[in-house]
Amino acid sequence: MADERVPLARPDLSQDDIDAVVAVLETPYLSLGPKLPEFEAALADFMGMARGVAVNSGTSALHLLVRALGLGPGDEMITSPFTFIASANCALFEGARPVFVDIDETTWNMDAGRIEAAVTENTRLLLPVHIFGRPMPMDRVMETAEARGIPVVEDACEAVGATYRGRLAGTFGLASTFAFYPNKQMTTGEGGMIVTDDEPLADLCVSMRNQGRDPGAGWLAHARLGYNYRLSDINCALGLSQLARLPAFIDARARVAERYLDALAALDELVLPAPYTDGRVSWFVFVVRLADRFTQEQRDAVLSDLTDQGIGCSNYFTPVHLQPFYADLGYRPGDFPVCEKVAARTIALPFYNRLTEADQDVVVECLKSALACL
Ligand SMILES: Cc1ncc(COP(=O)(O)O)c(C=O)c1O
Repeated sequence: MADERVPLARPDLSQDDIDAVVAVLETPYLSLGPKLPEFEAALADFMGMARGVAVNSGTSALHLLVRALGLGPGDEMITSPFTFIASANCALFEGARPVFVDIDETTWNMDAGRIEAAVTENTRLLLPVHIFGRPMPMDRVMETAEARGIPVVEDACEAVGATYRGRLAGTFGLASTFAFYPNKQMTTGEGGMIVTDDEPLADLCVSMRNQGRDPGAGWLAHARLGYNYRLSDINCALGLSQLARLPAFIDARARVAERYLDALAALDELVLPAPYTDGRVSWFVFVVRLADRFTQEQRDAVLSDLTDQGIGCSNYFTPVHLQPFYADLGYRPGDFPVCEKVAARTIALPFYNRLTEADQDVVVECLKSALACL
């Protein structure tokens, strides 16, 4: 394998970010200090929501919400099979069952028109995912949810700053989750956030992220089962500093995406991300897919050719229901044919704020040469 010439992802770190982190290290408040509420308030403010609850990952954010909403054995949670596995695992953590709804072939989001048919008397939660930063049609999701009296938690882990019909993704449901791994639009190293207007829900999550402690009670007083899902002040300081540049990050990523769309438009081997007319995509990754006439094996050959040429790439995503342990839940190949067809052909290309035009040209040339071998 060649040395990697262009990585798949790279965080955008400035001297301000470094200074913000170092400043925390010069205080005794490495965790549960002042940067935690500052970061929470800043993200809640950005979202126009009452509360932010910072946690150590997007997965933890999802878990706390599923638990706070009381899901358990016998309960069902509707989500997408075309997502990062945590979107579904959060139900399994509490013994509930993820029920998948196949995706829309164009948007790669859960097909909102099929949600209703998946609702049963056991459905306790709808968990739409704004995949790759492209918002779900939330009016349709909310219509179904309200008609059936089911709460909605938006998995907005890939969609910070995206908008749908003039509203930020993550502001439609009862609560939403964000994630800040270094490949995300903004990073805290590791980290996540719950955002909600529901004060009691936020308070419960605050307690559960900190070993079930209640505010003001002693360090060894645990009112309920909880976890250590705390986010340190070091991470929060980085998050605050990154959040200040988030609008610029989102713009930079949109420009990189536009350049790819132009450069790849003429390749009939590829299906490119469709234009989005309902608002703004907050580009998380740039994923193309091979046309229907190609197979998964051919896609895998393109990925390994790109890797050999030093181009970071990935197969975002293997369908969740085809992960080995989901077979134990009774899921089988063929259950969600649109998802499977798309997932077998996807290619995530290098994508980050500071991807230079020169490096992008290299990626495009390498992709063309890989496609020529098909
Ligand atoms: C859609 C989605 N949900 C949840 C998560 C989980 O976030 P984390 O990796 O911070 O646990 C991710 C992270 O990649 C994600 O993409």
